[in-house]
Amino acid sequence: MKELEEKILKEGHALSENILKVDSFINHQVDPVLMQQIGDAFAGHFGNKGITKVVTIESSGIAPALMTAISLNVPMIILKKQPSKVLNDNLLQTVVTSFTKGTSYELTLSHQFIEENDNVLIIDDFLANGEAASGAIRLLSEAGASIAGVGILIEKSFQPGRDKLIAQGVDVYSLARVSRLAKGVIEFIPEEC
Ligand code: G4P
Ligand code: NA
Ligand code: NA
Repeated sequence: MKELEEKILKEGHALSENILKVDSFINHQVDPVLMQQIGDAFAGHFGNKGITKVVTIESSGIAPALMTAISLNVPMIILKKQPSKVLNDNLLQTVVTSFTKGTSYELTLSHQFIEENDNVLIIDDFLANGEAASGAIRLLSEAGASIAGVGILIEKSFQPGRDKLIAQGVDVYSLARVSRLAKGVIEFIPEEC
């Protein structure tokens, strides 16, 4: 997506070979006009797949997921990150470990918000190792939903997340695919036509 790539080049900062800082339009300050364009782009790509709900993971996925949900005219569900296992019949939980941050949490879904016939689109800001998206897929599958696809704002294509999801048969659509980061350098995989 041209608008997102341009914004990344203008305001993003490659802190290292692994980390792209996008605090001024995604992770801390949010650019609402860009988020609306992002929501429309996901709705355009996934719009004919019969999606019944958009699901994201708190917190940075919420803004783009909400815009996508508006564009698709379906509800949005936020998977929560709980520090520990909670014993409650209505909660589904699965451990997600972040390699980027070196932390773990219990990704949590309240069963009442997903039904067996739901066809879900997962939206998140970054795809790195694919651990958060894989955890979301585990929870949603456990709740009986089918996975229509995963929509990502920024895919770090040099990390294994995309391939892991594709190996599970998931339709992954990333608006910006970063092929290389280095201090002060950001390169993209050219968009498919
Ligand atoms: P994975 O799910 O693909 O395996 O990714 P990983 O565990 O490595 O990512 C953990 C957290 O780090 C996620 O945020 C993710 O969005 C963020 N992250 C990963 N790579 C980058 C990067 O290059 N730049 C930035 N700014 N963030 C990155 P989170 O902890 O879930 O927090 P939140 O931002 O959604 O609240
Ligand atoms: Na995130
Ligand atoms: Na994040």
